[in-house]
Amino acid sequence: MRWWMAALVVGAQLVVGTLVGPDAAAAAEVTTLREAAAARGVQVGSAVSASALETDPAYRDRVAAEFTTVTTENEFKWSVLEPVRGRYDFSRADRIVDFAAAHGQAVRGHTLVWHSALPEWLTTGTFSQAELRDILRNHVQTVVSRYRGRVAVWDVVNEPLAEDGTPRDGFWLSRLGPGYLADAFHWARAVDPAAQLYLNEYSTETNAAKARGLYDLVRDLRARGVPVDGVGFQTHKLLTSRLSALGDVLRRFADLGLDVAVTELDVRVPVPADATELAQQAEVYAWAAQACLAVPRCRSITTWGFTDARSWIPAQYPGWGAATLLDESLGAKPAYRRLLAVLRDWQRPGTGPVAWWRLDDWGGTTASDASGSGHSAAVSGTTLGWYERQPTTFALRGDGAGTGAVTAGPVVDTARSYTVSAWVSLTSKTARRVVASQDGTARSAFTLSYEPSTDRWVFAVPLADSAQAGVRTVSSTSVPAVNRWTQLTAVWNAGWGRMQLYVDGVLEMTGPPSGQPPATGWTGRGPFRLGRSSAGEAFAGGISDVRVFARVVDAAEAAALADAAVGRWTFDGHTGDESWFSRDGFPRPEQVGFTADRAGRPARALLLTGTEVIDVRGGMTLWTDRSYTVAAWVRLTDANRDGRPDGAGDQVVASQDGRERGTFQLQYESDNGRWAYKVPVTDAGPTGWPTVESLAPAVAGRWTHLAAVWNAGWGRFQLYVDGVLQGTSATTTSPPATGGLHVGVSMTGGRLTGALDDVQVHQRALQPAEITALATP
Ligand code: XIL
Repeated sequence: MRWWMAALVVGAQLVVGTLVGPDAAAAAEVTTLREAAAARGVQVGSAVSASALETDPAYRDRVAAEFTTVTTENEFKWSVLEPVRGRYDFSRADRIVDFAAAHGQAVRGHTLVWHSALPEWLTTGTFSQAELRDILRNHVQTVVSRYRGRVAVWDVVNEPLAEDGTPRDGFWLSRLGPGYLADAFHWARAVDPAAQLYLNEYSTETNAAKARGLYDLVRDLRARGVPVDGVGFQTHKLLTSRLSALGDVLRRFADLGLDVAVTELDVRVPVPADATELAQQAEVYAWAAQACLAVPRCRSITTWGFTDARSWIPAQYPGWGAATLLDESLGAKPAYRRLLAVLRDWQRPGTGPVAWWRLDDWGGTTASDASGSGHSAAVSGTTLGWYERQPTTFALRGDGAGTGAVTAGPVVDTARSYTVSAWVSLTSKTARRVVASQDGTARSAFTLSYEPSTDRWVFAVPLADSAQAGVRTVSSTSVPAVNRWTQLTAVWNAGWGRMQLYVDGVLEMTGPPSGQPPATGWTGRGPFRLGRSSAGEAFAGGISDVRVFARVVDAAEAAALADAAVGRWTFDGHTGDESWFSRDGFPRPEQVGFTADRAGRPARALLLTGTEVIDVRGGMTLWTDRSYTVAAWVRLTDANRDGRPDGAGDQVVASQDGRERGTFQLQYESDNGRWAYKVPVTDAGPTGWPTVESLAPAVAGRWTHLAAVWNAGWGRFQLYVDGVLQGTSATTTSPPATGGLHVGVSMTGGRLTGALDDVQVHQRALQPAEITALATP
């Protein structure tokens, strides 16, 4: 199965949603965001301006018609409220609050404590720390009490973090110390106990370091009894933002017992924007909305302005604009229609997992359920932490003794068909090691485990909820590997009375064996366990990405569940990672173009002009000292059609950082015009660069498939062009990487001028047949 079919089938539920509403006739009558959101029980809003409400009737009508909540874009900022010390001017804030009340809309008050938009008397005045704290308390109390009962949600603190996730060294931290945060929340709660109190931050949708910092901050505040009710994600985005991690980030915060919200959504475009860009923009809006809808505790989706006539973007980012839902004359853009369609019709695909524990949560004590079904599991005896399924990925660490995670109740009706899949890395074979189970009363309704007596993986279904009843089993035919990530899929087919066990996507056994009667399932009403059974039998090693389906998974889906890509950038109008690892690519500079792919579909391949490159951040992408494969489609630009590339010098397709140089370079070599895959012998000092070159010169202007394979066991590497092996290196070494992958450049230069598509990396040496499949146009 192709990976993209896999994504469709196996329930990357944020990617795919059905657009068939429950009641098509009723849905057809829903024509505003407001109606659509009200019907779903989520709020939709916009930042609004008091002066626009006052002077522009068309603007006013649209705000009334489209939104269930409004945010004060600037009217509650301190510099607007109290430009002169002691003289508050609430007139503009009142205008918005009164408007909202008249139209049945909630108000988000933005914002009480921020390092920016402070009045000059405050920033230039000389105050003691005690005076400044009084000033802040007085401000919070004055504003919140005046709007008690009228402002439903406060952004109590805005943007408290730096980009690396540490506290921002801003006005309040530097003068009051870190305690100002907790103080502000306590002061606000004391004055209006009914208001929802939020912490609001930007870039935490895509910057993992900052998201973790925010997570730790909020968890710590809550643990200390600070009344933080919710976290807002500003979500000021670009066309290239795929937001693939947003749903997971929202879920992690929701699992802390918090509400979450998308608070300042906009998607800026270099102006003038063309139709393709507006279509891409619509997808970013849709993606953000789907991420929110997939998390029950996501309460609202607010855009930062709703018409391009009044967006903050052109002033803030010269050369950019067109960031909102409506054009300058309030006409609907594709983004508006997509957002309306998502709010009205999007549903989690019914065939997706009923529970999905990624087990890469930051918290350590809760395994959150990415399916949206709310089956989070309490982790005990260990924390979720580093476990190298891939560089930079967390997993559940089983110590073989007391570890595991458990849900509050059952996840699946084990009398009916179901499927359980998991990635595991076993470290010890000395005892039975349970990967997953669901409790009955006297015993588990099923176990998926390592069985020491036979040295096999075993999927077992007892015939009844009694210790005396027999057990039906299917086993792997292969012997379980130790310290190697392996993917297991166990299928219980109730209609057929049969069980199946897949290992690494391959069906190893269907059972019970012929001659034995079919198994009978029964409903285990107890909790679902990860990494153990009710009898203990704790797993030793790592467990990652456990998914439960309330149905049978077929062979193609099982193969897709075992997909081992650790990065996959399709460049279909964005630079997000479509692998399980969500390692989005960041264009440098921010603006990057797209072009037609090899099938001629517009805006489905990355266009590099020798200026832009893509960085994959968030730690190492690949272990380059273990076997790996890097594959890409590339077309070097050849504007004058002389068969030679336009770009100057070596042109790098992909490279990953070591300390002093790339740990490999897959590139076009300018001195002989060939494709080359080079691996330095060492990562420091002078070194040789063993190289495998293409047999024929590179042809510019034509789509070519390249695959670089490092085989660590063999100590050699190979280059494939269009699926054909070009050569094999002599025995050599490959240095360990220290940083992330770059696309279109190496750490020492070599920018590419051309188009790139379907870049993918695997943490293993792909087979020749697999490379041929990738190279098939
Ligand atoms: C912006 C407003 O939209 C502009 O009108 C103003 O000039 C500057 O502030 N994050 C926030 C908002 O939290 O308060 C900012 O609003 C946009 C970024």
